[in-house]
Amino acid sequence: MTSQRLLTPIALGACRLSNRLIAAPMAGISDLPFRTILKSFGAGMTFSEMISTEAFVRGHEKTRGILKRAEGETPFGVQIFGGNPAAMAETARRLEAEGLCELIDINLGCPVKKVMRSGAGAALMREPERLFEVVRSVVGAVSLPVTVKLRACATPKDTAGLDLIPDLFSVGVRAVTVHARCVSWSFTHPPEWGWIEKAAALGRPLIGNGGVMSPEDAVKMAEQTGCDGVMIARGYLGRPWIFREIRQLIETGAWAPISLEERFATMRLHTRMSLETFGERQGILRMRKHLAWYVKGLPLNAEFRRGVNATHDPEQLFRAIDAYDDRLKRKERGEGLVER
Ligand SMILES: Cc1cc2nc3c(=O)[nH]c(=O)nc-3n(C[C@H](O)[C@H](O)[C@H](O)COP(=O)(O)O)c2cc1C
Repeated sequence: MTSQRLLTPIALGACRLSNRLIAAPMAGISDLPFRTILKSFGAGMTFSEMISTEAFVRGHEKTRGILKRAEGETPFGVQIFGGNPAAMAETARRLEAEGLCELIDINLGCPVKKVMRSGAGAALMREPERLFEVVRSVVGAVSLPVTVKLRACATPKDTAGLDLIPDLFSVGVRAVTVHARCVSWSFTHPPEWGWIEKAAALGRPLIGNGGVMSPEDAVKMAEQTGCDGVMIARGYLGRPWIFREIRQLIETGAWAPISLEERFATMRLHTRMSLETFGERQGILRMRKHLAWYVKGLPLNAEFRRGVNATHDPEQLFRAIDAYDDRLKRKERGEGLVER
């Protein structure tokens, strides 16, 4: 597709996205405060961190917490994982009954050992019968649209994930996201976007994922693969404004690097929301990695990171942010500053 289409609406069943730039589910990362930021920079849809359906049906409190969405955060997708069709269906029913989301995504691609040992995530790819039992049980339990996210294959030599695509659509799945890596590859392995192109020939809407680390990558993925939408994951870490940059690139042919002022305003807002949502201890712990990502590539960042990692006190944390902001502004005035 031409990249212009990325900025147009798309309907996944009854769930309407105003654009096709989707913020990926990321465990430990795509929480309410961060999703609020991602949305503010123009993500067309946000997803929860994945939730265990076994934990959810047992009433696990932390799992409930993951499901909270921000005011006005719509459309919002909840991603579920599990290997037990009954628990998967029951979770889906409750999500719908309680109005917790507009769309349910089933994780079929998680390669984490603990998840696979429970027969969930990418383990289901090895057992297509059970995989379809799980998918059918969820689709049959709700009228909400159900989507799936999977890896293209188990190893570079097979096409296990891609082979499932036609049947996934025929059992009622409303969109498939293909992560263009095989299960045996780590996240650092270069993605194989040719698999997204193949997948799009097998069923649509097809969302491409894997290796979109810059606005240019999003445009290239859309143009090279013909996918119907692009899902961004690690590319939004420390750079939630990538959604705005992609829009700028498509609309004007160039994108403007974020100013230091706006970068630091985003860091402060994110930190405030994290403290409000998770309390002092958890809020600060969660922010440590985000703050490190926000300053990646900036000068003099090591000292800032050390300060952030050493404190459990919100006031000290904000002082560290202010001090680093001042230091960079002084440096910018004196020597100029290279931004990514
Ligand atoms: C820390 C981390 C957490 C992740 N959590 C999830 C998750 O909860 N659900 C999921 O489907 N994928 C998860 N993923 C995979 C991403 O959504 C995405 O498919 C993957 O990072 C490839 O995209 P990228 O190359 O653009 O990062 C996670 C990845 C990372 C690095």
